[in-house]
Amino acid sequence: MSKKRIGILTSGGDCPGLNATIRGVVKACYERFGEDNVQIVGISNGYYGLIHGLCRDMQPSEFSGILTQGGTILGTKRQPFKMMTVIGDDNIDKVKNMVETYNKQKLDCLLTLGGNGTHKTSNLLADAGLNVIGLPKTIDNDLYGTDVTFGFHTAVDIATDALDRLHTTAASHSRIIVCEIMGNKAGWLTLYAGIAGGADIILLPEIPYDIDKVCDAVVRRAQKGKTFSILAVAEGVNDIEIAKLKKKQREQYHVENGNDTARIAAQIQKNTGIEARVCVPGHMLRGGSPSAYDRMLATQFGVHAAKLIADEKFGRTVAMVDGKVTSNKLEDIAGKKKLVDPNGQQVQTARDLGISFGD
Ligand code: F6P
Repeated sequence: MSKKRIGILTSGGDCPGLNATIRGVVKACYERFGEDNVQIVGISNGYYGLIHGLCRDMQPSEFSGILTQGGTILGTKRQPFKMMTVIGDDNIDKVKNMVETYNKQKLDCLLTLGGNGTHKTSNLLADAGLNVIGLPKTIDNDLYGTDVTFGFHTAVDIATDALDRLHTTAASHSRIIVCEIMGNKAGWLTLYAGIAGGADIILLPEIPYDIDKVCDAVVRRAQKGKTFSILAVAEGVNDIEIAKLKKKQREQYHVENGNDTARIAAQIQKNTGIEARVCVPGHMLRGGSPSAYDRMLATQFGVHAAKLIADEKFGRTVAMVDGKVTSNKLEDIAGKKKLVDPNGQQVQTARDLGISFGD
């Protein structure tokens, strides 16, 4: 019997839990099919590696000791979806090359670990006839069709720790500290960390803010004798006026002016007279070892992917729905985003605590 050849790649931004997922799926495949009947083919640097044939047969020992490792042992790269079907200066037909690599490697299936962009390309490859299974990764938690993505909760823990630490400086110096939190166009990370880290004001892309209302919230706290305030601000926030612009114009505004964080801090200092500082943890939020929650989630997702391989259920991506691990059709989720519901329970929880959203 010929060995089952399973290709794996990690694509887009790295995050904690990628290696734990790889380990989960590989160990479960070895268990199901027998170590001698499976060959894992590692594809370096995401779709770039698939386009350029950067593949190698991996040994079982390479998957030991990686549960706790951050980043990805396979390497990753951003390969924008919108360019996938465009032939650029390099004259490379990317989809054709990816199909060729898959066939040359005699793969039985391809596992793609990634977020929104990754899943759109996975769907493209499934349409091209490849046996693809996606696994939902991103600290942004904005992948449609799954309650949660691996990497998210570790990033929430790190962002919460940052807010905890900022509290001591803010309180000691009687300052405003504006902490910018990643998440792309989604506010999940900021909302969760903001609530868990005791932020006084939380600004999300899903709820455009009015700077006067943000300043009012700071002043209200000062009037109650609170000499400091902590703001958790998502990197993708929009001022209420900018939010009214068309998507393209809004994006252009941010290309020209950058994120709002520094402007928010400067405006608060100007309007309230209270000293303000900015903190941007940035990629720290994606670094290091996955939390126990993410190790568990990644392992469950990986094990489920092995089951999909055994059942030959391709063109799907693993998901957590209502607390149960399951899968969605790639075509049903690709290109859709899961954003924070401004009227949802979590936002209401924060409002009920008196946290301001600047609206
Ligand atoms: O998607 C994960 C993420 O960290 C986003 O939160 C952020 O906007 C983006 O990636 C940053 O990308 P890069 O690492 O390419 O700068």
